[in-house]
Amino acid sequence: MNSNLSVLSIGEAMVEFFRDDAGHWHQGFAGDTLNMAWGLRAQLPDSTCVDYVSRAGTDPFSQRFRGFLEENGIGTAHVGTDPERGIGLYTIETDDMGERSFSYWRSASAARRFADDIPALTAACAAADLVYLSGISLAILDDAACDALIDALGERGSRGFKLAFDPNIRPKLWQDPNRIAPVIEAMAAKSDILLPTHDDEAAAFGDRDAAATRARYAGLGVPEVVAKDGIRPTQVFAEGEDLSLDVPEAVKPLDTTGAGDSFNAAYLASRLKGGTVTEAVRTAQRVSALTVQRRGALVPMQQIRAAAGA
Ligand SMILES: Nc1ncnc2c1ncn2[C@@H]1O[C@H](COP(=O)(O)OP(=O)(O)OP(=O)(O)O)[C@@H](O)[C@H]1O
Ligand SMILES: [Mg+2]
Repeated sequence: MNSNLSVLSIGEAMVEFFRDDAGHWHQGFAGDTLNMAWGLRAQLPDSTCVDYVSRAGTDPFSQRFRGFLEENGIGTAHVGTDPERGIGLYTIETDDMGERSFSYWRSASAARRFADDIPALTAACAAADLVYLSGISLAILDDAACDALIDALGERGSRGFKLAFDPNIRPKLWQDPNRIAPVIEAMAAKSDILLPTHDDEAAAFGDRDAAATRARYAGLGVPEVVAKDGIRPTQVFAEGEDLSLDVPEAVKPLDTTGAGDSFNAAYLASRLKGGTVTEAVRTAQRVSALTVQRRGALVPMQQIRAAAGA
């Protein structure tokens, strides 16, 4: 692999508070695109730059967030500073039955303005080899910023970075539900690698199964589609062919948070290192099986490396 690669992950990370069984609160940071950057950082050599692209505030938790990224080797050059807004926050509580509930304070977060400076974003992407974002990154933007971002990412510039997109459709995050399908499909049509999850796609598009999800995106012209489907086979379209790859072993999940994100990171890391599509899916299945057996979205990097065989 060309070791001087540069990868960007674009979106929103939040302060996370979760309460353990003894009732004590613990604080971390999480968010789908951050989880993905974390997984890539774990699996790529130090010579590869992994940067997070977002916006935070000047509040103490925003400052801690920047420190957290830097301590973990994730670049902050493209984490802008919003003078008015702070970082978003969410809490996770588990009831006596093991059922988790989430509460969010993110509607006025700084990250919602991460796409205000499109020329800066375009310049950052033009210098990257791989750019990743999700449907959550799009859902949090106002309509004009969202459309401008999709247009900008569609223009690759002379270096021609690869664009990877996970629709991660969360209907509650979208102000206008009528925009979900057209926006997701517009971004997908400009993507090189699409990483959808069948459950989300069934709700938004009525896909009967993961093969239908795969076929719909392949039909939009996406050259590489990897449709996750929990413990059911991963449905892939690549190099003009369909592949169905069984999940080798279904494990008993402890916490499914971040399963898809860790899958995406392992898949993309493997592809960047020259792995075939099948090798990349196998690695992703191993790493995501580990993630569902650990509490929290961010599994220690050493454990990720061990599972990936990196
Ligand atoms: N119980 C399990 N045992 C083994 N592997 C699992 C299990 N659940 C999920 N996985 C693995 O994790 C991958 C992603 O899971 P899933 O399809 O639920 O993603 P997701 O819903 O996108 O997750 P996220 O909540 O992070 O968005 C699956 O393709 C599979 O490889
Ligand atoms: Mg997902």
